[in-house]
Amino acid sequence: MSDSGRSRVKVAVLVSGRGSNLQALLDACADPSHPAEIVAVISNVPGAYALERAEKAGVPTQVIDHKAFDGRPAFEDALNAALDAAGAELVCLAGFMRLLTDAFVDRWHDRMINIHPSLLPSFKGLHTHERALEAGVRFHGCTVHFVRADMDAGPIIAQAAVPVHPDDDADALGARVLEAEHRIYPLALRLVAEGHARVSGQRVVITSHGAPDSTLLNPAD
Ligand code: GRF
Repeated sequence: MSDSGRSRVKVAVLVSGRGSNLQALLDACADPSHPAEIVAVISNVPGAYALERAEKAGVPTQVIDHKAFDGRPAFEDALNAALDAAGAELVCLAGFMRLLTDAFVDRWHDRMINIHPSLLPSFKGLHTHERALEAGVRFHGCTVHFVRADMDAGPIIAQAAVPVHPDDDADALGARVLEAEHRIYPLALRLVAEGHARVSGQRVVITSHGAPDSTLLNPAD
């Protein structure tokens, strides 16, 4: 139960690596008034640092190593079994580096969200910070979206934009985006868990928050 007396939405987080977004979600959900509760962290990579973060937070962890399975469907059957056993109602992908089959994505339709380090639909795929610099965009950022079968596609829940600085390299820009990721992922999870982010066609309607008033210019005037 959350402080509001409603039961909290049970969330499983799928990870493959360092887990800084997982940490942001763990920190947010440590507050009993947060509408989501993290009930499982599952990594496809043995020894991923994200697993340590979950253990420190007292959240059950599991390794399901894709290399141990004969093909994607068998791996995903094991994932689904673990998610069901944990009672997961919602899945958060947080640096989970496996492509998922259409069948898995369909099973979690509108119940699985992902964070991507670009302002989608720009820069799908990998190396987003390098590509943003190459393209010369003045703003870059990150997106939390419901997962659909196409890679890095699906109704957008929240985005954060950061300015590109003239002297940025990919690391500097990536660090600025990552800070923003750690703010929007907990926010997006809250909106979904509270039922305030509803999918309508290809879009998400947010019923609890408005848009900011200000327009950002880069270069600043
Ligand atoms: C993040 O940049 C996220 O947007 C992307 O993979 C990275 C994972 O980082 N999907 P972390 O494991 O959360 O630190």
